[in-house]
Amino acid sequence: MANYRICLIEGDGIGHEVIPATRRVLEAAGFDAEYVTAEAGYEYFLDHGTSVPQATYDAVENTHATLFGAATSPSGEKPDGFFGAIRHLRRKYGLYANVRPTRTRPVPGAYDNVDLVIVRENTQGLYVEQERRYGDTAIADTVITKDASDRIGRFAADLAMKRGKRLTVVHKANVLPITQGLFLNTILDHTATVEGLNTSTMIVDNAAMQLVRNPGQFDVMVMTNMFGDILSDLAAGLVGGLGIAASGNVGDQFGIFESVHGSAPDIAGQGVANPTASILAAVLMLDHIGDHETARRLDNAVNKVLAEGPRTRDLGGTAGTNEFTDAVIKALA
Ligand code: NAI
Ligand code: MG
Repeated sequence: MANYRICLIEGDGIGHEVIPATRRVLEAAGFDAEYVTAEAGYEYFLDHGTSVPQATYDAVENTHATLFGAATSPSGEKPDGFFGAIRHLRRKYGLYANVRPTRTRPVPGAYDNVDLVIVRENTQGLYVEQERRYGDTAIADTVITKDASDRIGRFAADLAMKRGKRLTVVHKANVLPITQGLFLNTILDHTATVEGLNTSTMIVDNAAMQLVRNPGQFDVMVMTNMFGDILSDLAAGLVGGLGIAASGNVGDQFGIFESVHGSAPDIAGQGVANPTASILAAVLMLDHIGDHETARRLDNAVNKVLAEGPRTRDLGGTAGTNEFTDAVIKALA
C-alpha cells in the first residue's frame, strides 16, 4: 500500500493540462501515492446538472489531500443549479485559510526581493455569494464573524511566528467600520497577546500601492476574502505572473491545493499552459502532509528549469506544457 492517497480534480480548461503534468512530476519524484481522480466544475455541470457530484465529496474525504486544477465560473447570470465548485468546496470543508506564498523565482521581470505570504479568509466576506436584485438595484451581502476573524488571525499570526515574525493586517475599516472593523479589531485583540510578533495595519488601497513599490517590506499579510483574491493576483504579477502562483486551502481537517490562476479559456486545449503553479501547489501539499523531502526536491527542480529554461510562453519562452514538464522531470534526476 502507498503511503498517501491523493485526490486529483482537473476541473475545467487548462486544469486538464496542468494536473496531468503535475501528476507526472510527482510520479517521477517517487512520491509514494495512490491517486483518486474526481470531477468538478462547469464542464461537469453542463453534462450532469451539478458542479460537484457525491463521488467527489467521497474522494476528498477519503484522501490525505486534494490537488485541484481550476473551475470556470461564467460571468453574469448563472445557469439554474450552477455553483462555483472551488468556492463551494472551500466552504463545505471549512477550508478557512487560503494561503498564497509569493517568492521571487528566477524568471525575467520578477522583483528580486519578494518573500511574502498572503493569508486570505476563505469562507466569508462578499464571497458568501448572497446577491439579490430589486428592479434596477442590486445588493450583495458581506458576512464577517468574530469567530472566523479570530480563526484566520490566529492562523496568520502562527505562520508569521514561523517566518519573519511580521504580520500586516490589511483592511478597509475606515469606510466599513462595522464589518471590516470587526475583522481588524478581532485580529488585533489576538496579536496583542503574541509575544515577539510585530503587527502592523494597512488600508487595502495603500497595501496595493505598497506591494508594487516595495514588496520587500512584507512578510505575512492577512485580509478578508475578496481583498485576498485581488491582492494575491497582484502579488503573483510581481514575481512572474499567474503561471507560477500556487495556493493552499486549509482547514482543521482537509486541504485542497491549487494554482491561483483560473481555467484560462484563452489558452485551454493548446498545450501551452505553464504547469509551474500547479506543481508548486503540489509542493505546498507535500509540505502540508509532511513529505518535506519530496517538496524541496520538486521546488529545486522547478527553480532550476525556470532559471535555465526551457520556459513556457507566459515567461517569454516557447516551450509547451509537456516540454517544460519533461525538463522538470529531468532536473529531478
Ligand atoms: P485566468 O487565471 O484563468 O487567466 C488569466 C490570464 O492568465 C489569461 O490570459 C491566461 O491565459 C493566463 N494564465 C493563467 N494561467 C496560466 C498558466 N498556467 N500558464 C499560462 N498562462 C496562464 O483568469 P480569468 O481569465 O479571469 O478567468 C477564467 C475562468 O477561470 C473564469 O471562469 C474564472 O471564474 C475562473 N477562475 C477560477 C479560479 C479557480 O478555480 N480557483 C481562479 C480564478 C479564475
Ligand atoms: Mg483569484
